Amino acid sequence: MFLIIIMSESIIIDKSLSKQEKYETLLPQIRSLVGDEPDLIANLANICAVLKYSMKGFFWVGFYFRHDDELVLGPFQGPLACTRIKIPNGVCGTAVSERRIIIVDDVNQFPGHIACSTDSKSEIVVPIYKNNEAAGVLDVDSDSFVNFDETDMLYLKQVGEIVSELLNV
Ligand code: SME
Repeated sequence: MFLIIIMSESIIIDKSLSKQEKYETLLPQIRSLVGDEPDLIANLANICAVLKYSMKGFFWVGFYFRHDDELVLGPFQGPLACTRIKIPNGVCGTAVSERRIIIVDDVNQFPGHIACSTDSKSEIVVPIYKNNEAAGVLDVDSDSFVNFDETDMLYLKQVGEIVSELLNV
């Protein structure tokens, strides 16, 4: 059993669970964590921490938010990252402009991929919507190739929806 203590909150995750079971365990805990706290930045930061330290191969987890024609770095966990990404550049800019979740099995094969870290090998980017506009992304990088699949897509989409709810209040 692996326990992350966050102030008076705690996240309980058993590292031996399957990926799907981990997400099933984490999602209600994430909802509860952010439901008790009105501060957006605090909530985004904790979502990054929970995902990075619970899921296998999550090397960088963070948010970018749209400011005019750019995505600007938000709360994240992991190594230093690019601060600004012009839309529609990179995986993040493409996901926002095309309003779709993108999984990249090998970042070297994605034309225009922006390498913030040479250790990043695969990536998933989930658009976040505010008033039905693509207002940002949840970006997860892995230091392994082919780390993300339909299970990540299904559940990280739900994390994106939780964040959308926070933005839409
Ligand atoms: N790889 C992303 C840039 C952001 S970093 O991965 C943190 C992209 O191509 O948009």
